Amino acid sequence: MAQPGTEKRKPIALHVAVPTEDESYPVLIGKGLLARLGYELRRSHPNARRVALVSDENVMPLYGGLARGSLEAEELEVHCFTIPAGESSKCLEQLVGLIEGMVAARLGRRDVVVALGGGVVGDLAGLAAALFMRGIDLMQCPTSLLAQVDASVGGKVAIDLPSGKNLFGTFHFPTVVLIDPAVIKTLPDRELACGLAEMLKHGALFSPEHFHQVVDAAADMYAHKPEVLARKIAASVGLKAACVSRDPREQGEAGKGRVALNLGHTIAHALELMSDFELKHGEAVALGLIAAARLSERKKLAKTEEGEVGLEEQMRAALAALRLPTNLDAWLTEARLERLEANLKNDKKRGFASISYIGLSRIGDPAVLSLSAQEIVALLRNPKPD
Ligand SMILES: NC(=O)c1ccc[n+]([C@@H]2O[C@H](COP(=O)([O-])OP(=O)(O)OC[C@H]3O[C@@H](n4cnc5c(N)ncnc54)[C@H](O)[C@@H]3O)[C@@H](O)[C@H]2O)c1
Repeated sequence: MAQPGTEKRKPIALHVAVPTEDESYPVLIGKGLLARLGYELRRSHPNARRVALVSDENVMPLYGGLARGSLEAEELEVHCFTIPAGESSKCLEQLVGLIEGMVAARLGRRDVVVALGGGVVGDLAGLAAALFMRGIDLMQCPTSLLAQVDASVGGKVAIDLPSGKNLFGTFHFPTVVLIDPAVIKTLPDRELACGLAEMLKHGALFSPEHFHQVVDAAADMYAHKPEVLARKIAASVGLKAACVSRDPREQGEAGKGRVALNLGHTIAHALELMSDFELKHGEAVALGLIAAARLSERKKLAKTEEGEVGLEEQMRAALAALRLPTNLDAWLTEARLERLEANLKNDKKRGFASISYIGLSRIGDPAVLSLSAQEIVALLRNPKPD
C-alpha cells in the first residue's frame, strides 16, 4: 500500500504490508536517503548499539564511508564486513564467516545487520541476520537496480548449494528497506539493464501502464536521472509488494500468489546454467520473457486480433528498447534444446509431473500453465512444427 512521504527530503515512501504476521515494513525511496541511514535505523531501532554493515568489494569503497558515517553520527558502533563481489559469495563459507564475525564483534539481540549492496549481499547478509542468535533485525539498503526493485523486497534470503541456487534459505523480513536511487550512477549499464528486465516483468504481470512507462523512461534511467528512477522504482516495488502481501511465504494457490513472479524465470534459470553464467540473470530473464510470450501465443492463451501486434513481438520491442537481449532462437538450436529440456526437468520449482509455467493472456494478465519439460521445448521450437 503506497503512502506519500511526509518529510521533504523523502520524495517517495512506500509501505509494504506483510499481513500474515500482522505487521508491515516501510520501503523508503528517495534521492540522498543513504545519508539518512543512521537516522532511519535509530528511529526504527532505538535500543540498538552495534551494527554489522555488510557490503561487497565494489560497493563498500563507494558507499561504505557514507553509510558508516551516518550510523556513527547516531552513536552506533559499526563493524564492517566486506565480501567478494559476485554470486560465488552466496556460499556456506561466507555465511559462517559472517556469523563468526558478528560473534567476535559481540553483536546482541537488539543489534542490527545492514545489507548494503546488490542482491548477493542482501541474500547473504539477510540469511546471516535470520540465523545469528536465532534471528536479529535486518535493514536492506539495496544498491543495484535489481536489488532495489526485486531482491530487497519480500523477505527471501538464501545462499546457494553446489546442487542449486537459493536452496539454503528462509524468509526473514527486513524492518526497513532504504532505497537511494542516486547510487545507480555508479552501477554498470549491463547491471542496470538486468534491473530493467525485472521492472518490465512486474509490468507484464500486473500493469500494462507500468510496462509501457518503463520502456518510455529507459533513456532517462540510463542517464541516471534520480527522480525518474525513484518514481519507476516505487511503481515496481509497489507492484511486487502487492503480490507478496497476498502470499508472503509463497504458499498461495497457483496463480494467485508470488509464484507469478516466476514469469520468465523457468527458461531464464535453464539458460543461465547453459551459458555457464555468461548470461547475467536479468539478460536470461529477458529471453525468458520472450519465451513466455511465445509459449502463451502458441498455447492460445494469448490471442491476437487481426491488425494487433502479437505478444511476442510486443515483448521483443520492449526489451530491445531497454537494451536487453532478444535473440531467443540463438539459444534454441537443436543441441541446446536437448540441454534445455534436461535442465527444465531438474528445475526445483517443478511439480511431480509438470512444471507450473507462468504465461500471459495479455500484458498485465498472468495465468499458470501446467506443462511438461517436453511440451515447453516443443512449444518454443522455431520454426513452429505443424
Ligand atoms: N531474495 C530475493 O527475493 C531475490 C530476488 C531476485 C534476485 N535475488 C538474488 O540477487 C542476486 C542478484 O542480485 P544483483 O543483480 O544485485 O547482483 P550482485 O549483488 O552481484 O550485484 C551486481 C554487481 O553490481 C555491483 N554493484 C551493486 N551496486 C552497485 C553500485 N551502486 N555501484 C557499482 N556497482 C554496484 C556489485 O558489486 C556486483 O558486482 C542473485 O543472487 C539472486 O539470486 C534474490
